[in-house]
Amino acid sequence: MTTSTQNLTEQVVASFANAENPRLRQVMQSLVRHLHAFALDVELSMAEWEMAIGFLTKTGHMCDDKRQEFILLSDTLGFSMLVDSINHRSIEGATETTVLGPFYVPPLKVSPSESDISGDAAGTPLHVEARVTAPDGQPLAGAWVDVWHSDDDGYYDVQKPGQVENLRARFISDADGRFSFWSIVPVPYPIPTDGPVGKMLEAVGRHPYRPAHVHFMIGKDGYDTLVTHLFIEDDPYLQSDAVFGVKQQLVVHLTDEAGGTTSSGEVRGAHRKITHSFGLRPIA
Ligand code: BEZ
Ligand code: FE
Repeated sequence: MTTSTQNLTEQVVASFANAENPRLRQVMQSLVRHLHAFALDVELSMAEWEMAIGFLTKTGHMCDDKRQEFILLSDTLGFSMLVDSINHRSIEGATETTVLGPFYVPPLKVSPSESDISGDAAGTPLHVEARVTAPDGQPLAGAWVDVWHSDDDGYYDVQKPGQVENLRARFISDADGRFSFWSIVPVPYPIPTDGPVGKMLEAVGRHPYRPAHVHFMIGKDGYDTLVTHLFIEDDPYLQSDAVFGVKQQLVVHLTDEAGGTTSSGEVRGAHRKITHSFGLRPIA
């Protein structure tokens, strides 16, 4: 590093010295140091700088109230999971967190336990029986539980024009902390690749797939809202999730079951089943 480059970095760092907000000062000064160190490390060319500006501009143009390409970029760089882990340290008895993803929509109504949320979607029938507890295992009654997942073709309802609410629902845990529902077993699917992030993955030879999973968001007064997934065991993408969201604790075993009945009295034959317990962490 030349003396003048060193001076430049220190000059820019010093320009934030009078920021009234000490946290803003800390963040901006650290950002400048790391950004300058990065450019020096790779000896960034002018052409590469222009390409990066063009990439970020296209990323911004791809964003609107339905599409957030910057979050997708953060996800594919592992940045979302890094920030998630800084803010949700593991604690005994609490379920680990993972990315929210772009397909969450608050469900329109509360569904009774044992509802079938799959509508007319084709796929292998799935039964989920779960509990919500405190870290010490005590059941938590009255927690809201939002569930959403993709269909057998790898699409969420919101990705299909004109599609009605499907493969998503809200449940409320009962006195024993339990909730349950019927659906279909999700399949692996690609994250959206029609924007700059998709081009970046292609340019570096990375695939866009996420391993099959069901999303859960679980909340109750006095507890941190849990944002997590359950991943289906033996999925070929568990080791190479495009957004780095897999944690071993969240990979579940499915059992093969013979039959059951939905809340509306429909009989289900052979199906796969997930039995799981979610631990919420008390607000510190
Ligand atoms: C998802 O699982 O829905 C998702 C997460 C991050 C990026 C794209 C999709
Ligand atoms: Fe997903």
